[in-house]
Amino acid sequence: DLEFFFPVEQTLAVIKPDAYKEHKDDILSYIKEAGFSISQMKETVLTKEMAEGFYKDHRGKPFFDQLVQYMCQGPSMMIILSKENAVQEWRDMMGPTDPELAKQSNPSSLRAQFAKSILENAIHGSSNVEHAKKNINLIFENINLE
Ligand code: PPS
Repeated sequence: DLEFFFPVEQTLAVIKPDAYKEHKDDILSYIKEAGFSISQMKETVLTKEMAEGFYKDHRGKPFFDQLVQYMCQGPSMMIILSKENAVQEWRDMMGPTDPELAKQSNPSSLRAQFAKSILENAIHGSSNVEHAKKNINLIFENINLE
C-alpha cells in the first residue's frame, strides 16, 4: 500500500487559459482517472500582479513578460489536488515543460497532448511542497507569504 510510503500531499494544478478554453473536460477526466482528489477548484482570471507574483522566480528571464501576458489572457482553472505523492505524480502526468520533448519522452502526458509550445504549455504544477503551499495561499487566500 503506497500510503505507507508516501504522505498525502496537496499540489496546485493550473489549467492555463488556452487549454482551459479548449480542453477543460478532457484534462479534468484525466485528473479523476489518475486518482487525484480535487480539494478545491475555481476559475480565475489572473491579474498582471498575481501572475508576476506567481512566477516571481522567473522575473528577469527573457520569456517573463510573454509568460505573464499568456497567463492573463483569460480564465484559468485553479485546482488543489490531493493524493499520496501528489506533487511528483502531477509533474509526471504533465510531462516536460517543452511539448516537443514531452512528445518524445512521454507521449501520453498532458503537455504532449495539449501544449502548443514551451510558452503555451497548457498546464502548471507546483515544483515542490513548499511552492505548492505558497501558491495555494496566493491563489485561494489571495495572500502573499513573504
Ligand atoms: S526553468 O528554465 O528551469 O526555470 O524552466 P521551468 O522551471 O521548466 O519553467 C519555467 C516556466 O516558464 C514557462 N516558460 C518557459 N520556460 C522556458 N523557456 C521558455 N521559452 C518559456 N516560456 C515560458 C514554462 O512554461 C514554465 O511555466 P510553468 O507554469 O511553471 O510550467
